[in-house]
Amino acid sequence: MAESTRTLDWDGATGDHWVAYEEKYNAAMFRYSERLFAGAGVRPGDRVLDIGCGCGQTTRVAAALAADGSAHGVDLSAAMLAQARARAAEEAIGNVSFEQADAQVHDFAAGVYDLAISRNGVMFFADPVAAFANVRRALRPGGRLAFVCWRAPEESEYSLVPRAALGRYVTVPPSPGGVNEPGPNSLADPDRVRDVLGGAGFADVHLEPEDEPMNLGAGLDEALDFVLQRPHMREPMAELDAATAAKATDDLRAALTPHVTPAGVLLRSPAWLVTAHAPA
Ligand SMILES: C[S@@+](CC[C@H](N)C(=O)[O-])C[C@H]1O[C@@H](n2cnc3c(N)ncnc32)[C@H](O)[C@@H]1O
Repeated sequence: MAESTRTLDWDGATGDHWVAYEEKYNAAMFRYSERLFAGAGVRPGDRVLDIGCGCGQTTRVAAALAADGSAHGVDLSAAMLAQARARAAEEAIGNVSFEQADAQVHDFAAGVYDLAISRNGVMFFADPVAAFANVRRALRPGGRLAFVCWRAPEESEYSLVPRAALGRYVTVPPSPGGVNEPGPNSLADPDRVRDVLGGAGFADVHLEPEDEPMNLGAGLDEALDFVLQRPHMREPMAELDAATAAKATDDLRAALTPHVTPAGVLLRSPAWLVTAHAPA
């Protein structure tokens, strides 16, 4: 599909893919969660809002840390939220809730939350200043914001290595959006992050570079499956005949081999940890 027409259908195929690969994504982003929660500093009585919570792993962690408070996750994807609710029920977490809502425009109760967090769920807003202003209004005066988001794709082995290997055989569509457009890389530019959050009424905006890797799996077979089943890889690969697909897969295996470590198949994937405050 051409770049100009490709969108992330969160309440549809993209969300369904994230449900199917929930555990893989959680394992892949594990180190980003650690960095997010180190930056967020959840306190026992906090009421936490998790923006773009997906299948809710970070919401459940926030709920556990805010044992005397609560955590509320919002997301666009009904399928991911169903999974989030099921996981919370399995784990008998009483202080967590989920809601299908567009965080850009949702009518949050004003001044309710002590902290808003997100693990890679805030880069997809069509109007980021308005969206973050909406989140800021949901925070109490002095409330905190902490999120992780991707830095530039040109710095990311996670983006570049599979593209280079498979790009000899298929046209892999670039990530939706550019650096200043809605999409995974929309908050890559630190000046833009400061402008957006400042324009949305946040103060004390701080960006910390995080160079944790994405973990694509325990071994090469898992990593290959993870890469090849991502929709923007799966769709063009499905067009190939069997022999060419096998060659492309061999090339991908060779490209991932140098990244195999005892801790998993690790690809550098630079991110920002962003923190800010609503004015007191
Ligand atoms: C890259 S996924 C991350 C999901 C989850 N935070 C995690 O770490 O597993 C991005 C998520 O943001 C959600 N999202 C995108 N735009 C949103 C919006 N305007 N309001 C609420 N959620 C949104 C998507 O539905 C998706 O679940």
